[in-house]
Amino acid sequence: MRESITIALIIGSLRKDSINRKFAEYVVSQMPSGVTINEVNIADLPLYNQDYDGTTIDSYERVRQQLKAADAVLIVTPEHNRTMPAALKNVIDIASRPYKQSVWADKKVAVMTASPSSYGGINSGLDVRKSMQMLSAQMMIRPEVHLSRATDSLNEDGSVSERTQKYLQKFVEAFVDFVAIADSRDADSNNVGRTGA
Ligand SMILES: Cc1cc2nc3c(=O)[nH]c(=O)nc-3n(C[C@H](O)[C@H](O)[C@H](O)COP(=O)(O)O)c2cc1C
Repeated sequence: MRESITIALIIGSLRKDSINRKFAEYVVSQMPSGVTINEVNIADLPLYNQDYDGTTIDSYERVRQQLKAADAVLIVTPEHNRTMPAALKNVIDIASRPYKQSVWADKKVAVMTASPSSYGGINSGLDVRKSMQMLSAQMMIRPEVHLSRATDSLNEDGSVSERTQKYLQKFVEAFVDFVAIADSRDADSNNVGRTGA
């Protein structure tokens, strides 16, 4: 396992009191030493337009570089109208272009969702997975974390309930293993020599 891992964090909600941000903050607090988390600010990104591909937009370059530099990306997001929020789709599109310069190819990605509803925002998570599959990212398959009735998992002071803490700790362990193990496999395959493109 590598001694240090950098994870880019994307929170799909722009809301100040976002419940997803609260769960993300707990997950971040549980990361072992050696893991650095860099949040990718998506609130100031102009809507993606292919006409911009030939120009330099500072905020686009910032997120592309942040994502490129990260060993893995953690997405914590709500569901908006049965899919991912527009702001999240926007950063996925921005980082997928210009053509053939996508940052997502082979990037290790995990997604978790939370919603006050009983479906837990699962459609948002599934749609993230669908885009990531098309973009050739390496998605963490399990555990699938879609926190339903998520407001019940928050205490009055906004902290995460003990029961959900235990659940999220398993997610953190699996994610760190996923990044580290997949990474050492990459190193192994590099050692034996890769052929092809
Ligand atoms: C435009 C909009 C659409 C929404 N659509 C859904 C939905 O499809 N499914 C769902 O579970 N919740 C939906 N919600 C409710 C959100 O789950 C809820 O607002 C949640 O708190 C958002 O997460 P956040 O607190 O992290 O911003 C929607 C909310 C908004 C504002």
